[in-house]
Amino acid sequence: MKAAAIAFALLGSSVAAAATDSPRLVTATDGTTRLIVDGKPFTALGGELGNSNASHVAVAKPLFAKLAAMKLNTVLVPVSWELVEPVEGKFSFDLVGDLVREARRQKLRVVLLWFGSWKNGMSSYVPAWIKSNPARFPRAEMAGGRRVEALSAFAPANVQADARAFAELMRYVRTVDGRDHTVIMVQVENEVAMIDEVADRSAAAKAAFAAPVPAALLARFPGKTAGTWEQVFGRGASAEEMFMAWHYATYTEAVARAGKAAYPLPMLTNAALNRPGKKPGQYPSGGPLPHLFEAWKAGAPSLDLLAPDIYLPDFVAWCDRYQRPGNPLFIPEAKNEADAAVHALYAIGRGALGFSPFAIETTAEAPAAALTKAYVTLTDLAPVLAAAGAGKTAGVLFEKEHPTTHVHFGDLVLNVSHDYTFEWASPARHDPVWPRGGGLIVQIAPDEFIVAGNGIIVTFAADPSNAAAVNVGIERVDEGHVTAGKFVVTRRLNGDETHQGRHLRLPMGALGVQRVKLYRFK
Ligand code: DGJ
Repeated sequence: MKAAAIAFALLGSSVAAAATDSPRLVTATDGTTRLIVDGKPFTALGGELGNSNASHVAVAKPLFAKLAAMKLNTVLVPVSWELVEPVEGKFSFDLVGDLVREARRQKLRVVLLWFGSWKNGMSSYVPAWIKSNPARFPRAEMAGGRRVEALSAFAPANVQADARAFAELMRYVRTVDGRDHTVIMVQVENEVAMIDEVADRSAAAKAAFAAPVPAALLARFPGKTAGTWEQVFGRGASAEEMFMAWHYATYTEAVARAGKAAYPLPMLTNAALNRPGKKPGQYPSGGPLPHLFEAWKAGAPSLDLLAPDIYLPDFVAWCDRYQRPGNPLFIPEAKNEADAAVHALYAIGRGALGFSPFAIETTAEAPAAALTKAYVTLTDLAPVLAAAGAGKTAGVLFEKEHPTTHVHFGDLVLNVSHDYTFEWASPARHDPVWPRGGGLIVQIAPDEFIVAGNGIIVTFAADPSNAAAVNVGIERVDEGHVTAGKFVVTRRLNGDETHQGRHLRLPMGALGVQRVKLYRFK
């Protein structure tokens, strides 16, 4: 790749990006956002290391080799505050440098995870000089004045110390990686949240709660008039949670802003999701959750995106809640289960910037092989997906209750259903390695699609709402794979494999890739 500026077609618009530019998010005119690395769209086919496996490079080194062999292109790597600033003001980033160089050697990109003030609502990663000095670095308080380990979000000393350390980290990353761009994104904090109670009850927090709601937040609630948190949002846990969300957001903003001033990589923060039916205070509260987006977006504009850690069921619904205008989807943590391979195809199909099962190094052999197949397929498809543009790609994922869905592409409607709905489906209705039906669809020409996934049946029709609707038939279906942006045919499918021309079918129990060309007739 030449270092000179290159222009490429990005989602229908031409975007100039230089291969030498640092990684960045670019939103095209059609509203779709891409992560651009070395001048080209990049999709993070990732995995997150277990929390303690980046504390020594000797532990991480063989794991990086394993992940590269699994065909990941990105690893999410913790950076622990206690390890990089063991003595106040004395920074030691050698470990970070070693990790970045080791990942680079394995041709892996890196998303660094800043385990700073908060990790899962606790503060176990702060250095000992902070832990042992609660008078200077105050803790959150529960009702009755009981102090907890978690740092208070209402103490300037806390945020200043965190922002200083994070800025030093980013300055260091720029020094060791400003040219190579191994590090492509940074997560600021980890699952920030209040646990056990909905709000900090310290004196500073109480004073802040009695103050007026800041104008920047109020402006996001058009019907509301100025007042205190209770006056604007009512009495009770919901108002308290919004209040905490705002203060967590502005704290995280100060940290992110200091880091970006040193090296402006794309930044995110992640959420521990709220279990349906639980109330604020019963789940980790105040984090970047869907119902608190206004507080986080207004309070933390330096964060490029808010991200879900998806361990709960309803993968589709969680993706829907996080993929919004102004918030591209990136999944830094997903449950490391057999479904992960199909979840990866689905998420990237619907436009996610990346996908990453947690504790990736612990994946058992069979699901690891499935994930590898998904990542190889996604790597092959990358140029096709990058060229496709808005409205030309889709993810499909079947839940038990929803074995059928419709996807519209221009004037075509694709009826997509799970393989087990097909009367002559193979007996493999539950496959232990590929238990979940789903994948992605990309429109490569007006009447031509590539479908990749497991257990998918597609029939094609003209949108009946179109008065000029014609009949649509299957001209041909080919099985194959994509190499260097071109579809390579390995088998022409017909007869039983297409139900005598009625549908395209990717049988359950394997990852299939097929291309279909349609024809129209009156
Ligand atoms: C979510 C956290 O963000 C991770 O660091 C890890 O603690 C996992 N939970 C464990 O399931």
